[in-house]
Order: sequence, then C-alpha cells, then structure tokens
Amino acid sequence: MSAVSRDSGPFLYMAPLKGITDALYRRVYCNHFGGLDSCIAPFINPQSSALCSDKLLSDLLPRHDNDLPLVPQLLNTDADGFLCVAERLWQLGYREINWNLGCPVKMVAGKKRGSGLLPYPDRITALLDAVMPRLQAGLSIKMRLGYKDCSEARELLPRLDAYPLTEIIIHPRLGVQLYRGSTLPEEFQICSELTRHTMVYNGDIASVSDYTRLAGRFPSVNRWMLGRGLVANPFLAQEIKGGSVSDQVRQEVLRAFHQDLFQAMKQRLSGPGHLLGKMKQVWIYFIGSFPGKEKLLKKITRAANEQAYLAAVEAVLEE
Ligand SMILES: Cc1cc2nc3c(=O)[nH]c(=O)nc-3n(C[C@H](O)[C@H](O)[C@H](O)COP(=O)(O)O)c2cc1C
Repeated sequence: MSAVSRDSGPFLYMAPLKGITDALYRRVYCNHFGGLDSCIAPFINPQSSALCSDKLLSDLLPRHDNDLPLVPQLLNTDADGFLCVAERLWQLGYREINWNLGCPVKMVAGKKRGSGLLPYPDRITALLDAVMPRLQAGLSIKMRLGYKDCSEARELLPRLDAYPLTEIIIHPRLGVQLYRGSTLPEEFQICSELTRHTMVYNGDIASVSDYTRLAGRFPSVNRWMLGRGLVANPFLAQEIKGGSVSDQVRQEVLRAFHQDLFQAMKQRLSGPGHLLGKMKQVWIYFIGSFPGKEKLLKKITRAANEQAYLAAVEAVLEE
C-alpha cells in the first residue's frame, strides 16, 4: 500500500453516523486505514437531565482517536444547554464543535431540531446570537438544503455570513428525503454562491469516480465528507488520495479490521444481542466491500447468535 500523508490532496472527513462511527469504530478504523484528515463525531443527545455528564460525553473520551482530529457535534437548540455542553467540551480540550442542522429523523426534526430547524431561520440566528459571543471554540454547521424546500437553505445562508463560522458542511438533500432519492448537486452550487463561508460537500460519495466527478464540478471545494461510502469501502479515503492496494492485501486488511472490531465490541458491549445488533449495523454498508456477495448479507443480519453470525461472516470473507 502506498503511504498517504494526511496533508496531501483534498481534506477528507469521516461523517458522523450515529450507531456506527462511535469511538470504538473510529479507533479500530484508524488502526487499519488511512487517508482521513478529521472526523465529526455523531451528535450528543441533548438530554437536559444529563447535561454535561461524562456518560453523555462518553463517545468523546479520550479526546483523540489515534490523533485523528475529532469534532464533537451538538444537536441542542437552546442556548443554555448548547453553552453548557460547549463549555465542558472546551475543558476536555476540544477547540472546534459542530452544530447539527441536518438530522432528518422524525423524532428529532419533529422537535424542530436538526433539519427540522431549517424552516425557522430566525430561531437559528437567535441561537447563534446568544451563543457565539460566549463560545470559546470554533463553530461549524452541518446542514441540508432544507427540511421541506430548498428555499430554506437559500434564505438562511446569506444570514449566516454575519457569524464567524469555521465552515458549513452541506448534504444536498432535503430532510423529508431522509437518505433516499437523489442528491441535488445543482443546489449545492447555488448554496455556495450564497455564502462567504468555506463549504464542505457531503453525500453519496461511494467511489473514487464519484469523488472525481464532484471535484471536477466544484473546483473551488477542497473539503469533503465521506459517510456510508466509507463504511462500505473503508479504503475509500486513501484511494481518493491516490493510495492503492492489491486485492490480496485488501482482503487481509478487511478480515483483520472485522476481527478487531468484533473483538473490541465484544469486550465493550454487554450481551450478545447488543454486540450482534451493532455489528449488523456496520454490515448493512460494509457488505459493499464484497461485490458479488450481497446476497449473503441476509444471513448476517438474521443471525440469532454469535456462532451463526461468525459462520455467515466467514462465508463473506472467504476468497
Ligand atoms: C445511520 C446514520 C446515522 C447518521 N448520524 C448522523 C449524526 O449523528 N450526525 C449527523 O450530522 N449526520 C448523521 N448522519 C448523516 C451523515 O453524516 C451524512 O450526512 C449522510 O449519510 C450523507 O452522507 P453519505 O452519503 O456520505 O453517507 C447519519 C446518517 C446515517 C445513515
């Protein structure tokens, strides 16, 4: 495998995928793969009762995953809660945080959080007005085109020029689309013309050719975020940076990665149900690393115990 230094080529983030890219996944990932420059952690639950508790922040301790810079993400929409978590994160050494204005899940968006806040730009600027003067860390925003309509981002973006954000990450879908339907890169273009902030593109980058096509379309963008495509092909970041790997090494590394992930989760998680549930979440995407074996996924996701799970995995991993 050719060495890929962190500062060569485009700046690549690992996207936050709640339930998948937690601290344990990130640590094991970094032991086997390269090419990433930073990572945004899955959102911290904004539970008022547990504000700032170590349990709430357990995914962020210790501060770095193998020195891959990590940016915590907040979903709070109340200034006091936001500032409380931000203060604790600052004490832990985090110098940048991200605000989630993209989550499309009904339970979140229905409470006017995540993408559910996008139709209310006044509330967004009110929170920024209350929070930014007191915030020590840098703040970026991760957002969609809107909850129901692309006009929402178009209205919001010029207003965000008033704030010293570090950058804006855009996943060019609407909240109501969830993760379905096509992305709208043409709307990303419109958004980038409506802001002075640095833009990060995120969405449906599943191969080097997806990246190359988008990079050609948006030559001024140098920061990209990889989500499901990276879980499907953990080599994706290093491939985008020009790294190459033989088929044999690829298979060996994928097997070793799975083994380490499984063992680490087994040590950490209580009970086989929890362990298999987490591994199955990963496999929904990770099966993408094994073209032609997609039909075997069902055996993995239906495995009722560890033995059945490992047998089903072996059928996928074997040459
Ligand atoms: C299972 C799952 C969990 C996610 N959790 C988060 C999250 O915690 N915070 C966030 O900002 N986005 C979250 N997302 C959205 C991703 O970060 C990303 O924006 C989206 O998947 C599109 O990028 P991709 O096509 O590269 O996956 C999640 C997506 C999925 C599928």
